[in-house]
Amino acid sequence: MGTVRRVFEVDGRPFFPLGGQAKNSSGYNRAEAETAFRAVQQLHGNTVEIPVYWEQIEPSEGAFCFDGVADLLALAAEYQMKLVLLWFASWKNGDMDYAPDWVKQDTQRFRRVINPLGVPIWGLSPYCAANREADAHAFRALMAYLRDHDTGRAVIAIQVQNEPGTLWSDRDYSPEAEEVFQSPVPPALVRAIAERPSSPVHATWQACGAHESGNWPALFGAHAGEYLNAFTICQYIDSIAGEGKAVYDLPMYVNVWLAEQRFRLAGDYPSGGAVSAVLDIWLTSMEHLDLVAPDIYLPYTSGFRQICANYARDGNPLFVPESGSMGPNAWQMMYAIGEFDAIGYACFGVEHILEADGSIKPAAQQAVESFRAVSEAIPLLLRYQGSGRVHAIVQEENQGEQYLDLDGWIGVATFGYGTAGYVGRDWRHSGSGPRRVLDPTLPRGRGLLFQADDNTFYLVGAAYQLHLCPKDSWAAMTSYTGLRDFHLDRQGHWLSVDEGHFDEAGSFVVDRRRNGDEIDHGAWVEADVRVVRVRMGAR
Ligand code: DGJ
Repeated sequence: MGTVRRVFEVDGRPFFPLGGQAKNSSGYNRAEAETAFRAVQQLHGNTVEIPVYWEQIEPSEGAFCFDGVADLLALAAEYQMKLVLLWFASWKNGDMDYAPDWVKQDTQRFRRVINPLGVPIWGLSPYCAANREADAHAFRALMAYLRDHDTGRAVIAIQVQNEPGTLWSDRDYSPEAEEVFQSPVPPALVRAIAERPSSPVHATWQACGAHESGNWPALFGAHAGEYLNAFTICQYIDSIAGEGKAVYDLPMYVNVWLAEQRFRLAGDYPSGGAVSAVLDIWLTSMEHLDLVAPDIYLPYTSGFRQICANYARDGNPLFVPESGSMGPNAWQMMYAIGEFDAIGYACFGVEHILEADGSIKPAAQQAVESFRAVSEAIPLLLRYQGSGRVHAIVQEENQGEQYLDLDGWIGVATFGYGTAGYVGRDWRHSGSGPRRVLDPTLPRGRGLLFQADDNTFYLVGAAYQLHLCPKDSWAAMTSYTGLRDFHLDRQGHWLSVDEGHFDEAGSFVVDRRRNGDEIDHGAWVEADVRVVRVRMGAR
């Protein structure tokens, strides 16, 4: 139904990965990794993102050991999870921490980036062919191992490198890199940039005179170093992805350390990574990578949504491989999924949601509930994303209600107990007493609304209730101030309100019916009631 480009598949069918990313060192041994699997289980997720380390699989050149990867495959089978493997190799957060010792110690063969002062820094140069070839060699071996040993097809995608780019310099200043800098910009790139008038790269090119040919500084002025680095790193990683796919064809992507989080200058964030400002260089140069995915930790909504908008475009579906496991991500994720059609979502450091005894930390409770709510809605996401029938419900700070412009209906999501002071919830949800909308200690209302047809709605989320009013009677209704919540619902003609879930075949199964007091103040939604289906009557 929707037009979303689904990159991830299981058994040839679209798949929505939802889950968490393990901490950086959790892939080294089975016991550590297992904590991440347990945490994703608590999130009601279906996918664990976890690193595979170049230094671990190739401790000496050409001698491979895949015991760690075998452990991950075994855990995936035991926990019935899918895997996204993160290839920590030439780049991890702009550094080279995960290159094997034999690479780190041989600085003649495996050249480092040289900064403008002539000092080598802790990063492999993307202009050094030996670096790329050694990385690609190991990556091919990994893909061959997966092809031959992942018999359960647990691995659904590979992240090639982690937040690549150059820290502490905008580019490599070695003689080798300098020569490329002074060489003509590839004509195909100039053409692609000329054809993208809304791109920041296009604006720079225009400001520098819109030359059709010339070297990097001639065409891109002060941004030339970062642009060249973006192009070179993209080629480096894209070619590794291509060689890996030739061995075993899985979806592959790169993730991004964003500039917008307070990192202002190239080199402050990894220069050449696919930040918003150079995303067009990546998107027009990639041949093998399937997508570019932002790691979004922005704690404020306008920034979060802007990043979603920047990356969900030009055939690049939004995939969020990293986000916060506590705090505002609990409600912001609904924007990514409901408004920007994210095709998958994960939080980082998923182990952090757990106490030492395996229970969920109170600070992570809201995020856990949100992930649970989204997990219940996956069949609906696969069906309705891209159709305009998915709506994000998010209670922003100090917001008492949210209006939703639906097909034939006005939806009003009210947060807390609204003006009525009583909602006919059940024993599981009635302990906290009347809520005050502006009390910041209470959970935020958040969730997703799906309008399946003219009169059928599915709701997931927590801490809100939905009221529906036909558009044609809305004007009359709203003139009666003071009668809003209670009477609003009666204008909608509830046909039925049911709690339920989707079965394996994607059919809705009713678990419990609500009527009378339990629907007088709207259809209330909490994560543990799973999916609420609302059918409205003839009008
Ligand atoms: C983003 C990186 O991609 C992760 O590997 C990890 O280092 C987090 N930052 C830490 O916040």
